[in-house]
Amino acid sequence: MISRILHGGDFLNLGTNLMLCFLCGMTSGDPTTGSAFGLMTKYPLIDGHNDLALMLRILHDNRLSQVDLHNISKVATDINRLTTGHVGGQVFAAYVLCGAQAKDAVRLTLEQIDVINRMCTENPELELVTSAEGLNDTKRIACLISIEGGHSIDSSLPTLRMFYQLGVRSMALTHTCNTPWAESSSTIYDVYQRENDSLTDFGKDMVKEMNRLGMIVDLSHSSWATARAVLQISKAPVIFSHSSAHAVCNHSRNVPDDLLRELKENGGLIMVNLHSGFVACHGQANISIVADHFTHIRKVVGSESIGIGGDFDGASKFPLGLEDVSKYPALIQELMKRHWTDYELSGVLRHNFLRVFKEVEKERDRQKAKGTLPSEAQIDLTRVQNPCRLVLRRPDHQTTKMEQMYSKGHSGLVVPRSLLLQSTEKERKCVHMLLCSGGPVSSLHAYNKDFWTEIAD
Ligand SMILES: *[C@@H]1O[C@H](CO)[C@@H](O)[C@H](O)[C@H]1NC(C)=O
Ligand SMILES: *[C@@H]1O[C@H](CO)[C@@H](O)[C@H](O)[C@H]1NC(C)=O
Ligand SMILES: *[C@@H]1O[C@H](CO)[C@@H](O)[C@H](O)[C@H]1NC(C)=O
Ligand SMILES: *[C@@H]1O[C@H](CO)[C@@H](O)[C@H](O)[C@H]1NC(C)=O
Ligand SMILES: *[C@@H]1O[C@H](CO)[C@@H](O)[C@H](O)[C@H]1NC(C)=O
Ligand SMILES: [Zn+2]
Repeated sequence: MISRILHGGDFLNLGTNLMLCFLCGMTSGDPTTGSAFGLMTKYPLIDGHNDLALMLRILHDNRLSQVDLHNISKVATDINRLTTGHVGGQVFAAYVLCGAQAKDAVRLTLEQIDVINRMCTENPELELVTSAEGLNDTKRIACLISIEGGHSIDSSLPTLRMFYQLGVRSMALTHTCNTPWAESSSTIYDVYQRENDSLTDFGKDMVKEMNRLGMIVDLSHSSWATARAVLQISKAPVIFSHSSAHAVCNHSRNVPDDLLRELKENGGLIMVNLHSGFVACHGQANISIVADHFTHIRKVVGSESIGIGGDFDGASKFPLGLEDVSKYPALIQELMKRHWTDYELSGVLRHNFLRVFKEVEKERDRQKAKGTLPSEAQIDLTRVQNPCRLVLRRPDHQTTKMEQMYSKGHSGLVVPRSLLLQSTEKERKCVHMLLCSGGPVSSLHAYNKDFWTEIAD
């Protein structure tokens, strides 16, 4: 049976739905309650960011056979609560920790894509979609796959393209670490630091290739300078999939007003993050302060630039009354109370995201019609500094200037004279690096440690 059709009838079925019952009790007597549910039945939410896949790895090692996806404990997202929350589409992040950068981030990302793919194809309530039309037309809960952080593609455009083929339709350029080509809003990692080229030439190639593919550029987690550079060159609208208003809470993950104006010019979207630390900055957050973010952004750039990117299961604390994905109607109800119109809210709920996604697809189609070919740009190796990255050459290959430079700054690295020699010695160096940084032995510990430092972003 199909979730979206059931949305309307759901709240007659109170006996089986405790979450909803709770919500009804909380808001009884409020005349707008019915219309929040009614509106969301008509316009089910498309949410921009959710980290359930990360929790499936941390709690269940991605073993879906051990999990009832309808009712998962210790998380904020499952099928029952998505249904109660009137969620009609969810962008699921295939996120891997920054600590995996220049190690096995690509494998880990593939495994996260696999678990999202399995989740959304093995359950009849969910449907994996890869187009705006598929997202809009399904009567199930649509799943879209996103990548959270350019470290997932190891500075490789062919890898980006193959992720697109696996169904990935958006990518955040960074998470909490810089990549060799884009800058993060966070400074908790000191890797790939830069002064003024916050988006390098290769980073620009990346944005162009995402435009050509029809992959949405996500600027959440990027530094403002990187975001501005992207907004200068992107031929398609971009999104902040889970960021809030800096004027209301001055966290570096949030978006300042001038950047909001540039975003509006680009036709893009900010999907408001509900994490307490980003909406209230300090202290206990509540629905009222979340609504302040929406109202502020509307004042600066209008409701057409706004969506919702809950960040459930990606952050540790959420406002009172918005603790999990079943609670979205309470937020819509608050905005109705503040006289947001049905038109504005239908945009916030889904039409604005659908418009952006459609525009991204149109740019892809324009470039296809023009015959734009896949980019063969490659990252400048001097920027990567990764001993685990092999440069495959014929055994008789003469070392280039670039390779000499690369090895010069990194004593112990082998100049690629022969493929065999290079692989062997580089692998040794690579293993050494993994061990030095707490690799295989304590990886679970390292994972959890990184999880707690990274996840609040
Ligand atoms: C969800 O699972 C918990 C145990 O993990 C159980 O107590 C509860 O009854 C379940 N809820 C539903 C609606 O199935
Ligand atoms: C970066 O800025 C410095 C000082 O402002 C300048 O000398 C340098 O040329 C700049 N580099 C690039 C790549 O723009
Ligand atoms: C944020 O605002 C508070 C006061 O509201 C101020 O103390 C703090 O320095 C500001 N932080 C930043 C990063 O601007
Ligand atoms: C919500 O939180 C804000 C900021 O923390 C506070 O000023 C306000 O009084 C709270 N409102 C309600 C209704 O609790
Ligand atoms: C989504 O579907 C609705 C109803 O079928 C249609 O009216 C609307 O134009 C579609 N929107 C997009 C962006 O495809
Ligand atoms: Zn995030």
